[in-house]
Amino acid sequence: SILIIDFGSQVTQLIARRVREAGVYCEIHPFQSAEAAYRRLKPKGVILSGGPASVTEDFSPRAPQLIFDEKLPVFGICYGEQTMAEQLGGKVEAGHHREFGRAFLEVQKPSKLFEGVWEPGSRHQVWMSHGDRVTRLPEGFEVVATSDNAPYAAIADEKRNYYAVQFHPEVVHTPDGAKLIGNFVHNIAGAKSDWTMSAYRQEMIAKIRAQVGKGKVICGLSGGVDSSVAAVLIHEAIGDQLTCVFVDHGLMRQNEAREVVDLFRGHYNIPLVHVDAADLFLGELAGVTDPETKRKTIGRLFIEVFEKEAKAIGGAEFLAQGTLYPDVIESVSFTGGPSVTIKSHHNVGGLPERMNMKLVEPLRELFKDEVRALGRELGLPDSFVGRHPFPGPGLAIRIPGDITREKLDILRQADAIYLDEIRKAGLYDIIWQAFAVLLPVRTVGVMGDGRTYDHVCALRAVTSVDGMTADFYPFDMNFLGRAATRIINEVRGINRVVYDVTSKPPGTIEWE
Ligand code: XMP
Repeated sequence: SILIIDFGSQVTQLIARRVREAGVYCEIHPFQSAEAAYRRLKPKGVILSGGPASVTEDFSPRAPQLIFDEKLPVFGICYGEQTMAEQLGGKVEAGHHREFGRAFLEVQKPSKLFEGVWEPGSRHQVWMSHGDRVTRLPEGFEVVATSDNAPYAAIADEKRNYYAVQFHPEVVHTPDGAKLIGNFVHNIAGAKSDWTMSAYRQEMIAKIRAQVGKGKVICGLSGGVDSSVAAVLIHEAIGDQLTCVFVDHGLMRQNEAREVVDLFRGHYNIPLVHVDAADLFLGELAGVTDPETKRKTIGRLFIEVFEKEAKAIGGAEFLAQGTLYPDVIESVSFTGGPSVTIKSHHNVGGLPERMNMKLVEPLRELFKDEVRALGRELGLPDSFVGRHPFPGPGLAIRIPGDITREKLDILRQADAIYLDEIRKAGLYDIIWQAFAVLLPVRTVGVMGDGRTYDHVCALRAVTSVDGMTADFYPFDMNFLGRAATRIINEVRGINRVVYDVTSKPPGTIEWE
């Protein structure tokens, strides 16, 4: 196995999934408890994550000295490189040239880390996100690759099996990064490939049974892939102890509520309670404009409705949710790690402090595409598994400003037309997520011979592998023109359409 020591990077879990993709079991532990984890796990190698701290500050986090004393193969990433350099006798300085986003790396020397991937003298795209940089190498190390702003972009002590990089090999914007991580876990640390999705399925089923015992579980279904996969998995584990509840908060897309009910009652035959709670949600959301207040309000109401339904079925002690890892990491700081809150995803950070049910979250360690793989492993149809993600708070976070039934109605129509055009163009499966946003801005237009003063609709489409980072989708202008014309012609209340060309980071996928 591999031990990943977390220094609080937003993308630490991506390291874990790359290691799993290489077929190797791994665990993430925050730096504070890494030594105990090391003693229990006895890993073949250690990966040090990135993090927001600076090793130049007093009391910044360090890797346990033990892992160096034990002479394990170590791979430091970003902050991991810096603390490694510092701990082994090198020097790090607060950077004057911050590097964010794409950078190009030049390979200087052969290294076991690059074997079969990068040749000396070649140039490669990598993803950087750092301020500090290493300025003096520890003894035994040499530079194996450089970038314009990071002369020590990749360093290695091949004898001691120490490797460190300033860039992030775990994100997809470093196209060869997964192979480098594969080289570390297989060739350098010598870990075996014996981890599979079917092993994970069995492990999760056993965990769910152990957690739940003879208790009753109520599962919130949203119609998305995550909650559906969670429901099917839990149903496989505990059968009729599970009841699914679909809360229609009035913030669904066109036809969505009906599709969900048909799918679960008709296709899977899993008991499903359909609650129409639009009045409740829209009533409480009236006049709310702050994004976090919206999310928290929706989270609170969800729980209220669930608790009521749990009572109605004779008392469920457990609430199941399809929470994914990105929801966890962006909502709360991970297992005591020092990452910051970006937004409160309703099924995590938006939960009230006091709740009468315990959570069952079997997908908490997984990323979207891993959930899709698990869905296929569970026999769900491809068309279903391939659906775009839809956030728990629904259209509420796609209407900046206050939410009204009228705006929801306008947005639903625009969104349906946009997705229809995307499907017709054969782009649905290439795009990670596409949706319309209704802006609280009116602009002047001219239609026929009349003046209009209506809403602006923004279109968003991104490509991503896991939702943690994303690129805006480069549509053909003719496509955008076609979609815009249809929306303006067919939807009353919209007279202007714009396209969002922001990637993540620095943007997020949703607007709120
Ligand atoms: P952001 O906007 O944070 O979104 O870049 C990343 C992914 O997460 C989805 N998302 C949510 N999913 N509950 C969810 O279940 C939420 O509260 C929530 N907020 C965002 C978003 O649609 C994207 O796929």
